[in-house]
Amino acid sequence: MRPAIRAARAEDLTALAALDSLCFGSEAWSTVAWTTEFERLSEDRVILVADVGDVVGYVVLLVPPVSLDVVELLRIAVTPAERRTGIAGQLMTAALSKCAGRTVLLEVAAGNDAAVALYGAFGFEEISRRRGYYAGGEDAVIMRWREEL
Ligand SMILES: CC(C)(COP(=O)(O)OP(=O)(O)OC[C@H]1O[C@@H](n2cnc3c(N)ncnc32)[C@H](O)[C@@H]1OP(=O)(O)O)[C@@H](O)C(=O)NCCC(=O)NCCS
Repeated sequence: MRPAIRAARAEDLTALAALDSLCFGSEAWSTVAWTTEFERLSEDRVILVADVGDVVGYVVLLVPPVSLDVVELLRIAVTPAERRTGIAGQLMTAALSKCAGRTVLLEVAAGNDAAVALYGAFGFEEISRRRGYYAGGEDAVIMRWREEL
């Protein structure tokens, strides 16, 4: 089933924290951290979910109210059972449609082939690296997207 992409609602918080834990393990955000993300929805956060009855994916953006400030793509994930069916692509399309005229930055582990490929497919380009940034010495890749005018 093709999911509906919609804004997160307060009642999604538990499902999002559980899905985040499934997708990121020890790197998952805590329920407290997710609560903070939801509290910032009225300020500078955009959280979109992919909904097939259950939440099967999400993307979190930091969108500063000042339009010259860069947007940050903080997190995107899809439940393992539903990967490679285009859900992250749907989430990216919806997220980037909210970034007209803005610059979007993100940081990704160099070895995260799926995520690097996803971002590349949406026009993100590597602009810098943080060498040995992650535990184990993996590089962090900084990628940038700008709307093509
Ligand atoms: C990265 C992630 C979100 C991709 O989700 P997905 O729903 O499987 O991605 P999609 O099916 O929408 O794929 C869209 C495009 O991304 C790229 N892509 C996605 N997964 C890929 C993989 N495993 N290998 C290569 N390319 C991949 C492809 O270009 C793909 O287009 P295609 O299917 O036409 O080739 C998913 O693998 C995930 O949740 N990973 C764990 C969380 C994570 O690492 N998030 C990123 C850091 S915040």
